[in-house]
Amino acid sequence: MSLRSLSKLDLVAAAFGLIVLHRYLTRKSKSSLPPGPPGLPIIGNVADMPTKKEWVTFAEWGKKWGGICSVNLLGRTMIIINSSEVMSELDKKGAIYSDRPRLEMGGELVGYSDTIVLLPYGQRFRAFRKYFANHLGPVPMENHIPTIQHETHRFLKRQLSKPGDLMQNLRKLAGGIILQLTYGITVEEGEDFFVNLIEGANRNFNEATVPGAFPVDFFPSLRHLPEWLPGMGFMETARTWAKATAAMVEVPFAFTKRQIASGTAPPSFVANLLEDEHTLSADEIRNIKFVASSMYAGADTTVSAEYGFFLAMTLHPGVLEKAQQEIDTVIGNDRLPTLADRPQLPYINALVTEVLRWNSVAPTGVPHASMEDGIIGGYLIPKGSIIVANLWNMLHDPETYPDPFVFNPDRHIASNGKPAQQDPRTMCFGYGRRICAGMSLAEASLFAAISMCLAVFDIKKAVENGIEVTPVHENTSGIISYPENFKCTINPRSEKAVALISQEYQL
Ligand code: HEM
Repeated sequence: MSLRSLSKLDLVAAAFGLIVLHRYLTRKSKSSLPPGPPGLPIIGNVADMPTKKEWVTFAEWGKKWGGICSVNLLGRTMIIINSSEVMSELDKKGAIYSDRPRLEMGGELVGYSDTIVLLPYGQRFRAFRKYFANHLGPVPMENHIPTIQHETHRFLKRQLSKPGDLMQNLRKLAGGIILQLTYGITVEEGEDFFVNLIEGANRNFNEATVPGAFPVDFFPSLRHLPEWLPGMGFMETARTWAKATAAMVEVPFAFTKRQIASGTAPPSFVANLLEDEHTLSADEIRNIKFVASSMYAGADTTVSAEYGFFLAMTLHPGVLEKAQQEIDTVIGNDRLPTLADRPQLPYINALVTEVLRWNSVAPTGVPHASMEDGIIGGYLIPKGSIIVANLWNMLHDPETYPDPFVFNPDRHIASNGKPAQQDPRTMCFGYGRRICAGMSLAEASLFAAISMCLAVFDIKKAVENGIEVTPVHENTSGIISYPENFKCTINPRSEKAVALISQEYQL
């Protein structure tokens, strides 16, 4: 039968049939899971899961299966997002994709499930976010500028006297700012009790959350088996680590309470809120205590970004020179740059942005969990799915950032009628209602550290046996990723720089 032999009515009926068929097929695809690597019966894709640098494997899956793909982990769906468009759809439909997966070892047994990062989405979570916004949001950040600058100046002194201890110095810097803002605690030079206490607990948490390290994460009922059974040693570990978590939550809080009682507490998150303690309920006091302990979550990320800055400067002397020229021209060398200089230092701002893009601090973000069935990118996201956003891949997409592995602050400055490349801050801090709660503090801390260091230090490749050592930009695995250890030399730029570092803080 040819088309010509069909009546008009037949054609209309056929067209209608095609439309219905198309609708049916489209509807069917909308209710199916995103594509992904085929798995095995029962265990699904467990054996396909990468154990290190998961962002690289996830990016390969993205190339093969598209911007949204899925795997099956022992019956649980994991959705992997490789495209910024899909992530912004998740962002817009944020409410139902803003839970966190339950972590049996790190969360429930070791005790981090009461800190904001793991807190289930709901009323208590919203109360926590409000506390964060009221203390660390963009507006209150103005009050914290003196603390950020003062602690950064202390860092310059430490770096001058111990140039080989860059990582320890950066840890003290990030920890010092957060402890001051949270509890009014001033960190001591050398070993600091509070920094050691909190970093110890956070180290346990990092170990507890290494994927696959604790079978109880996959089989939660294991925790109810008798402890004399083989393989149950994790319960003893969990108890020891839970004690460290409790100390991290209680000890600095008690310190501030003692200071309040003796009338010596400087302003801080805890001191400001406990001023009228008698008006607060027991639940509110408990919430304040856990919000405070959650604030230190930002220290590791900031340290990684700052370490990334030193790596970038070691590898790109041209960028260092251009940045120093901007500071010398705008600020001169009679004083240190301050956060008030931000609008006058476009190249330094672009450099900070490029640090956030080039050295992905949280390459696969922090996993979210979906609270209801939903549709994203035309695919079904079943309730309870784990959602992982491959931020590293989005920040290194050559379509968005040509030559993505090159450190180039100029890409963030509009010029010759060409707009700047997409602002990486729309990606590197996560998305939806779980977007980083410390973004303003992160950016202010980074600007202060980067601008002040550029003003007074030269950062160069280390020389060993007369040969320059060129570091390789490699990153450690895990939720928070650091540049692998590298060598560089950090020397004051001049006698005047030494004098600026050594003077009393007077910004
Ligand atoms: C360079 C610095 C930083 C980067 C790149 C960064 C990045 C991120 C990312 C990607 C997330 C996960 C967001 C999501 O789940 O979608 C996150 C969450 C979080 N960040 Fe940051 N962060 C930084 C610094 C900080 C600082 C300084 C603080 C606080 C003092 C902080 C506090 C938090 C908290 C509390 C969460 C959990 C939010 C929640 O679960 O609702 N971060 N951050």
